[in-house]
Amino acid sequence: MPAKLIIGNWKMNTVPSEGIKLLKELLASDLISGDVEVGVAPPFTHLAESGKAIQHSGKEVWLCAQNMHQKTAGAYTGEVGAGMLKDLGVDAVIIGHSERREYFGESHSMLAEKLKTCIEVGLRPVFCIGEPDQVRSEKRHKVWLKAQIEDSLGGFSVEQLNSLVIAYEPVWAIGTGNTATPEIVEETHSMIRYILAALFGASFAEQVKLLYGGSVNENNASELMHTPGVDGALVGGASLKATSFLPIIQAAKHGA
Ligand code: PGA
Repeated sequence: MPAKLIIGNWKMNTVPSEGIKLLKELLASDLISGDVEVGVAPPFTHLAESGKAIQHSGKEVWLCAQNMHQKTAGAYTGEVGAGMLKDLGVDAVIIGHSERREYFGESHSMLAEKLKTCIEVGLRPVFCIGEPDQVRSEKRHKVWLKAQIEDSLGGFSVEQLNSLVIAYEPVWAIGTGNTATPEIVEETHSMIRYILAALFGASFAEQVKLLYGGSVNENNASELMHTPGVDGALVGGASLKATSFLPIIQAAKHGA
């Protein structure tokens, strides 16, 4: 069974000195071994130093960016391109987080462009999907997720998507403490794999790494990580302290 993948999404939190301190605390732990794949997504301002800290530790931790621009370079003041991230030693980029979709107007077609650039540059996309509260209460979540998947991933070949990670993050569960139940996660992950199977075939759908995100913490991680169809977690709030992030990594170990 492949190792689970746990990524900490720090969002717009920590100044560089705090972030590096946190990262060094994580790197010092024996829990960062080979049993679980671990990633951190610090803000852009800490990426270079984070990369150095990871390299210095000799541990394998995915260095992730939280966003990137869809174009490779040019007159886009204030933006960061995929090539810049790659050159810094970044491994993966979170694409289409619901906060980017909601607050920065990222559309399905823009995300398709971002995914294309990300893949071409050789970075792993961690593509986020998830439905808002009202959509789920109206039982429209399958249609919603299908559109998110088809409209952004539909134009790619299986070969192009071989490094893809998908994170299912229901918007109503993000930062709310209202974690999705294991039943909802299991059912929705199998729905997502069904949608992927129709587009890319059954073996792709079975193998693609599918994370859950939304109020994962040290108390619920074990149950969620043992839920069928869950390959890991994208963690926000609980990734900001080693004391809450490390127990999540522990919970993701096989046999834990
Ligand atoms: P949360 O955030 O764990 O704080 O709910 C998850 C995410 O947005 O990736």
